[in-house]
Amino acid sequence: MSYKKEYQHSLDDKTGFWAAKAESLAWFKPPQTILSKDDNGIDRWFADGELNTAYLALDHQIEEGRGNQAAIIYDSPVTGTIESISFSTLRDQVALFAGVLDALQVSKGDRVLIYLPMIPQAVIAMLACARIGAIHSVVFGGFAAQEIASRIDDAKPSVILTASCGIEFDTIIPYLPIIDEAIALAEHSIKNCVVYQRKQYDSQLQTSANKALHLDWQSLVSQATPVDCVSVKATDPLYILYTSGTTGKPKGVVRDNGGHAVALHYSMKAIYNMEAGDVFWAASDVGWVVGHSYIVYGPLLVGCTSILYEGKPIRTPDAGAFWRVCEQHKVNAIFSAPTAFRAIKKEDAEGKFLRHYDLSSLKAAFLAGERTDPSTFDWLKALINKPVIDHWWQTETGWSIAASMTGIETLECKAGSASLPVPGFELSIVDDQGQLLAANHQGHILIKLPLPPSSFPTLWNDFKRYQTSYLNDFPGFYLTGDGGYIDEQGYLFVMGRTDDVINIAGHRFSTGEMEEIVASHHAIAECAVIGIHDQLRGQIPVAMVIVKDGVDDKEIHHIPSQLITLVREKIGAVAHLKNILIVKSLPKTRSGKILRKVLRQIADGENFTPPSTIDDPKALAEMKKLFMDQKLGYYKNHDS
Ligand code: COA
Ligand code: AMP
Repeated sequence: MSYKKEYQHSLDDKTGFWAAKAESLAWFKPPQTILSKDDNGIDRWFADGELNTAYLALDHQIEEGRGNQAAIIYDSPVTGTIESISFSTLRDQVALFAGVLDALQVSKGDRVLIYLPMIPQAVIAMLACARIGAIHSVVFGGFAAQEIASRIDDAKPSVILTASCGIEFDTIIPYLPIIDEAIALAEHSIKNCVVYQRKQYDSQLQTSANKALHLDWQSLVSQATPVDCVSVKATDPLYILYTSGTTGKPKGVVRDNGGHAVALHYSMKAIYNMEAGDVFWAASDVGWVVGHSYIVYGPLLVGCTSILYEGKPIRTPDAGAFWRVCEQHKVNAIFSAPTAFRAIKKEDAEGKFLRHYDLSSLKAAFLAGERTDPSTFDWLKALINKPVIDHWWQTETGWSIAASMTGIETLECKAGSASLPVPGFELSIVDDQGQLLAANHQGHILIKLPLPPSSFPTLWNDFKRYQTSYLNDFPGFYLTGDGGYIDEQGYLFVMGRTDDVINIAGHRFSTGEMEEIVASHHAIAECAVIGIHDQLRGQIPVAMVIVKDGVDDKEIHHIPSQLITLVREKIGAVAHLKNILIVKSLPKTRSGKILRKVLRQIADGENFTPPSTIDDPKALAEMKKLFMDQKLGYYKNHDS
């Protein structure tokens, strides 16, 4: 089959195309209505269908004869554990944990907040929620208490599931103090907090901590009775995943059950060329959308074995870690962020480690989460001598918007490009006024409505924000927030965000949120946070701050470290704010708008045109000197 034919079919006959894909699933009640509008006027897929996503991922796979096959291989270099869990065992553990939730009176539609490291209990917890129709909201283990608290107050979970600790390289991070602080900060009260005690760290469980009961995971499981899958509507939420927007308040992206299962099932073959029995490895974290879709749901929905890796690309124990996992578990496709490969490249550019391993099972490497710079793309392709596929994603869609569809037709990939639109996504590039731009001209990337299955129908508790953030600017289109261009052959080049969102090591953060935190420091009069280029992490944040009059030099000296600590405490170490520049003024327009984009262009050594409305053009030269003196961004490796 040709990609062109498949893609055109998805646009010409949307309902026919997705109805046919939906037939591959074992629905409890197959949908008759393929596309309809909900009460908000938003397009919904398969509205009258009923199913259960955990049933499709586990019970149905067992019915198909895959009970003894590994569903999950838990590979944890940080604890020295390798454990294979079959579909049957995983189903039994999920059914039992669903019984734990049931006994805690969690039922269909209730929210469950999950704060767990990369251990099998994270997968069990997510699937147990899906089994009883509860809505999980996984929070990445690197987030600090305040981030968790804001998610508690928005999602209002009835229970929190956590573990005694996470492990980062060789550092044990106790989780309970973070969770207890989050519960104390939140207004919504939590009755029960279930804690999985890991061997590496035994938490002191208290009968009552900050209003919530600490319950021991293992003892609850030992008393539980397994429960069966409930039938849910295709449009019922499967999960809420919070992601960064342009302000401090995270956006609760809602994922439904039916469209998600159909799209992910389709993607496993069409994009990744995976069949039942293949081994798929998304080297990400269950706290991010890639982890939801391609560590947990996608591979299991098609009967693949999924690798759950609790380690890093480097230093666990070395830069050969990824290749060791590929050989040991006969991985057929690997998916990670460019940052992970840049980290390997930094330590082992010549691939000395790789030579110790047999990568013959590996068919391709997929990259997403941030733009793959051409040099990393070329390096990786030459190193592994397999196709390297950069594909473009968002939490909002839950799967890839542009890719080379290796299960349909492997098309040539171009370095720096996320290739061609995935069936169901009709893309256009427009200027600020919404005028279509010609090939090779950079502008906003829009997707024509209706969005295909799996795409979010709303933001949790905030349909108004959904409309204002995504739909109102260009009626009839979804505003992706990414900028880029399409070349004359239709290849998409995603060049970066057009809003205040930045990508640090493939993780999405809001510079607006960082500004709010920095500005809350008593000595700061004004500030701007921008994302600048970084060779390893893609982007890193830099805060430029103006100190209030009257603050003495001794105090000023401590401000940078205080701001760094503040952001670590409020967002988490993953925000990676390490550069603070104390400045006398910030370049602004005459109406007082800080020129953040120009500042980023200066830091990245790009050409820029100062707006005619600039208040003090000299300010830009001063900023450039500052970046040069501090050897930041472009000037880390260039003198001028
Ligand atoms: N829990 C707690 N803390 C965490 C964490 C977690 N899950 N993940 C990261 N952190 C902490 C780190 O310990 C570090 O803390 P420090 O500043 O005290 O050292 C900080 O957050 C920054 O982390 P990171 O940017 O990840 O740096 P690193 O040096 O720990 O690791 C890489 C560098 C490149 C190895 C790592 O970023 C990586 O593996 N990136 C790939 C990202 C990825 O897979 N993204 C998936 C999207 S598809
Ligand atoms: P997240 O929602 O965390 O998955 O982050 C989504 C954002 O990551 C997108 O809006 C892009 O800015 C960026 N992104 C993801 N994949 C790519 C890619 N292949 N190329 C360029 N940017 C990407």
